[in-house]
Parts: sequence; structure tokens; C-alpha cells
Amino acid sequence: MKRGIPVRLEGLSKRFGKVEAVKRLDLEIGAGELVAFLGPSGCGKTTTLLMIAGIYRPTTGAVYFGDRRVDHLHPRDRDVGMVFQSYALYPHLTLFENIAFPLRLKRVPDAEVKERVQKTADLLGIGHILERKPAQVSGGQQQRAALARALVKEPQVLLLDEPLSNLDAQIRLSARAEIRRLQRDLGVTAILVTHDQAEALAMADRVAVFSMGELQQYDTPEVLYHRPKNTFVAGFVGSPPMNLIEGTFTGDGFRAGELRIPIPGAPTGKGWLGVRPEHLALGEGGHPARVLVVEPLGREVLVVAEVAGVRLQVLLPEGERPEMGSEVGIVFPEPKELHFFDETGRRIGPE
Ligand SMILES: Nc1ncnc2c1ncn2[C@@H]1O[C@H](COP(=O)(O)OP(=O)(O)O)[C@@H](O)[C@H]1O
Ligand SMILES: [Mg+2]
Repeated sequence: MKRGIPVRLEGLSKRFGKVEAVKRLDLEIGAGELVAFLGPSGCGKTTTLLMIAGIYRPTTGAVYFGDRRVDHLHPRDRDVGMVFQSYALYPHLTLFENIAFPLRLKRVPDAEVKERVQKTADLLGIGHILERKPAQVSGGQQQRAALARALVKEPQVLLLDEPLSNLDAQIRLSARAEIRRLQRDLGVTAILVTHDQAEALAMADRVAVFSMGELQQYDTPEVLYHRPKNTFVAGFVGSPPMNLIEGTFTGDGFRAGELRIPIPGAPTGKGWLGVRPEHLALGEGGHPARVLVVEPLGREVLVVAEVAGVRLQVLLPEGERPEMGSEVGIVFPEPKELHFFDETGRRIGPE
């Protein structure tokens, strides 16, 4: 199959009456890259995807595939394959005819249709059940058929809108890995829309985080986790979410009510201190805290503790499980594992 091509969005926006669904978006996706659009429901992910597919016309801005401007082109002239959340397989057609559908529209000769459908279906491990109808196969197999239908035209760009959300948790994990492997093998440029941060971090080369129609940060999963640009990204990426404590930086530390945390080289002024639950620990000489909630999560245990009037989530190894209601000491990590944000929520350190 062909290599994917780069996709570039320039000043892209979309308005529905008074709603600004997407606000002046600039984004570049490399050839063969898998990029996730991540954000809560209603933040403009699907709208952006549909502008790339050609189903929506942008209010302003441009979409390029390679050097070619495509935003005036009909979807069928754009060389994209798309998988929607509801796979929307035709129930009365066999999997074969479902997958063949885009080729039939292009009046591809029968013999070639047969060969291409079989090849794509084999790639996805459903080559042996092509005579069945959607209702006669599992959810995971329906999902693969939808993916095969998107890939059978050998598109340069693959668009996936929450493609795994209808699958059981267990199949979802294997489907993630399978889509990722297939996308890499084919070298197709792919955009995955999801509201699930774990899915985005697990699958994508880079993640574009959206909030209310605006791009918040576009980076690798590692950078999003270690250097979130603002409190929105800090709170949205990572599970359980980062603790964000409102208070004042004092140059040599941070103060929130009675809580005082020494931090050499801290900034000054009002803002937010961020610390991930997995970077807090229990220990002698820590800040005195009371355990309010203990929630076992399998290999780990999530503890909610109150420290000088501030509630913190702490993620501990199962073996360190404290008693509910007990007094413990909470130890903060090295400054490099803390996050400083100003009053407006913008990251101000550490570098
Ligand atoms: N066809 C439409 N007509 C009117 N408003 C729409 C339409 N599609 C989306 N919207 C609005 O645009 C915003 C973004 O929606 P959407 O892109 O579907 O979000 P997401 O996919 O991130 O959940 C929402 O406020 C939504 O209600
Ligand atoms: Mg959506």
C-alpha cells in the first residue's frame, strides 16, 4: 500500500450559528504519523475530523494533504478512509459487500474487488468470515470490518472517530494494539479522535489536546505527561488526575492555607502547584495528614488524604496501603517532579 502523506491545517475554524466549534486551528501531522485528537465531549474533535474528511466545509482556513489544498474537494476526491464510532455497517449486506462498498462506488472490476477485499480482510484476520452478515459476528469483528472498509481503497489518510468506544474493555486493549500495528505497517497517516486519555497516550505518536474548540497543547505523550503547558492539560492527561493546589509561590516555596512546601528556586506570586498522585509518598517526617479514603485499584491503592486543609490524591503500591482514618506523613517529590502554574493556569516551571 501507499505511504501516507502529511496533513496540514491552517487557521481552520468552524462556526454553527453562535457556536464556535473550532477556533483558528493550526496543526501539522507528519506522513505516516498517528495523531490523537483528545479532549472532553463537545470540544470540537469530530468537527475538525469532518472538515479534514470533507463532510464539513470550514468557516475559515485551509486543509492541505501534502502540497495539495483539499478543503474545496468532495470527500470522495480526498483519498481518506474513515471509521465512525457507530461502525454503520449495512446490516443486510455480508461483510464482503460491506468492505467492497467503496470499491463498488468507484466501479472497480469484480475480479479486482474480490482480490482487494480478501487481502484487506486477511490483514485484519476476518478473511474467513466474509460471507457472514454483521449480526452474525462479534463486536470486535464488526469493528475490524469497518476498519477494513476504510482501508480497502488504500487511502493516504485514515480518520478514526472514537472507533473503540463500542467494544468491551478487554477487546479494546487488543484492538488498540492491532490498529497501531496495522497503521505502522501500512504507513498510513492517521488521526484518532478520542476522549480517553489512556487510549490517546497508548496509541499516538503525538496528541493534540483540545478544550472548547481550542488547541491547548500538541506534543508527544511523554511531554504532555511531564511538561503540561497549562492546568487544563495537567488535569486532563494522566489518571488519576494531577493534584492542583491553589496558593502562593514565595520564591523559596509554596503556601496554601496552613500548608507550606519548601521549593528551592520557586517562582513568586499567586498560582497553582501541581503534583501527580504517583509522585507523592508516605513516610516519616512528611506533612502530617489524615487518610479519608482508601480505594484498592488492583496492584495499586488510591488514597485521599487531607493535609493542612488541602485534599490530595496519593497513588501507592498495594503493599503500602494505610488504614482509613489513620495519621500518615505525606512526602512531596523533588522540585523537578512538581509543576508550577500562574494564576491564569499557564505553566511557569520547572523547565
Ligand atoms: N452539525 C452541527 N450543528 C450545530 N452544532 C454542532 C454541529 N456539530 C457539532 N456542533 C457543536 O459543535 C461543538 C463541537 O462538537 P463536536 O465536534 O462534535 O465535539 P466532540 O467531537 O469533541 O465531542 C459542540 O458544541 C457541538 O454541539
Ligand atoms: Mg465527537
